[in-house]
Amino acid sequence: MKVLVVGGGGREHAIAWKLAQSPKIDKLYCAPGNAGIAQVAECVDIGAEDIDGIVAFAQENKIDLAVIGPEVPLAMGITDRLEAAGVKTFGPNAKCSQLEASKSFTKAFLARHDIPTAKYTEYTDIDELKKAIGIYGYPMVLKADGLAAGKGVVLAEDAAQAEAAIDEMMGAKVFGAAGDKVVVEECLLGVEASMLCFVDETAIIPMESAQDYKRIFDGDKGPNTGGMGTYSPSLVFTDELQQQINDRILQPTLKGFQEDGLDFKGVLFIGLMITKDGPKVIEFNNRFGDPEAQSVLARLDTDLLDIFVAATENKLNDIDIKWKDDKAVCVVMASGGYPGSYEKGKVITGLDDVDEDVIVFHAGTKKAGDDIVTSGGRVLGVTALAATHDEARAKAFANVEKISFEGAQYRKDIGKILHEI
Ligand code: AMP
Ligand code: GLY
Repeated sequence: MKVLVVGGGGREHAIAWKLAQSPKIDKLYCAPGNAGIAQVAECVDIGAEDIDGIVAFAQENKIDLAVIGPEVPLAMGITDRLEAAGVKTFGPNAKCSQLEASKSFTKAFLARHDIPTAKYTEYTDIDELKKAIGIYGYPMVLKADGLAAGKGVVLAEDAAQAEAAIDEMMGAKVFGAAGDKVVVEECLLGVEASMLCFVDETAIIPMESAQDYKRIFDGDKGPNTGGMGTYSPSLVFTDELQQQINDRILQPTLKGFQEDGLDFKGVLFIGLMITKDGPKVIEFNNRFGDPEAQSVLARLDTDLLDIFVAATENKLNDIDIKWKDDKAVCVVMASGGYPGSYEKGKVITGLDDVDEDVIVFHAGTKKAGDDIVTSGGRVLGVTALAATHDEARAKAFANVEKISFEGAQYRKDIGKILHEI
């Protein structure tokens, strides 16, 4: 088969790395890819949001399956376009992609199907929104309705911060049209966890759990990032909690999709808050998490191609998905200054020195002559597998220390339990 992965970050490297192990793939492409992905796939210089370019490439090269990594092309309708051109595609269509692209769409879905989530109200008028400051107390959770590259959520500690956030989102429109509507939510207390699921029209199959570390500094301090590291399986997931998530969230979600005619085929990533009253949905994303994919896919035993093809044919129930017992820890190395502004083009050294069984997923890298240099905020995801969680942690950090580039920063507490339920 000929397969095309769309995207060029750590998540797409993890997807391509796993797909490259499939004996059924004759040719693997990635658009646009990065220096790490180039080791397992042929990278083609087409941006992930250049839908016309990707559709034309897929047709010309007779691609049998396209796999879409990031949320923006999904929301733009890349799946609809590829399918109309006869290319099987793993990733939800534009209608289903609203589950990530509109907070208000998702809140209405959750409410309609009685799925536990935070109380909410939505606003399209800035004066009405300002009158509502503090309605659920503080911190006040304010969310721009649309896609905002992970920056559209503000937890305002007091009325002044809330007013400033409203002025930015709805007044100055710093997120553009994404801020035309703002969702205000009650603040949930508890431990966050991510649950990724393979979904088709007949099944919702959870992957092994993972835990993300979103803030830039140790101890969950500093601004939010795309994610500074993950481990899998999560240490907060008990069998009882898994059962609750299945009964109260996963099954009602699948039933809701069926009732609402949402023909979702792809990965549903459920952001959860494990509260004293049980698990509640914080958000839905419609793609693998990044860097959740790195530690979860590192543990997958089954051929990922079989899973993707089954999902596109509504045959997920026929597949027995197997996972390794080994535990995984992925530590992200980021550019100095990230998530604020940062410099690019720093030469990365030590990549050849890492242990053979450690996987260094590339996120923001590119080739420059004989060197591999930084080209993004998150640069690498150093991922180790071992029989125990502690060994995986130790191995990941020992290997991070072998790699360097000017300004590199990483969290030293990835894999530690920072909060109790
Ligand atoms: P989201 O983009 O919806 O995942 O929100 C980003 C982050 O904001 C989440 O990962 C949580 O840490 C936090 N957050 C969002 N909604 C809530 C809420 N209702 N209560 C508490 N924290 C929240
Ligand atoms: N790591 C969080 C995300 O991918 O949205």
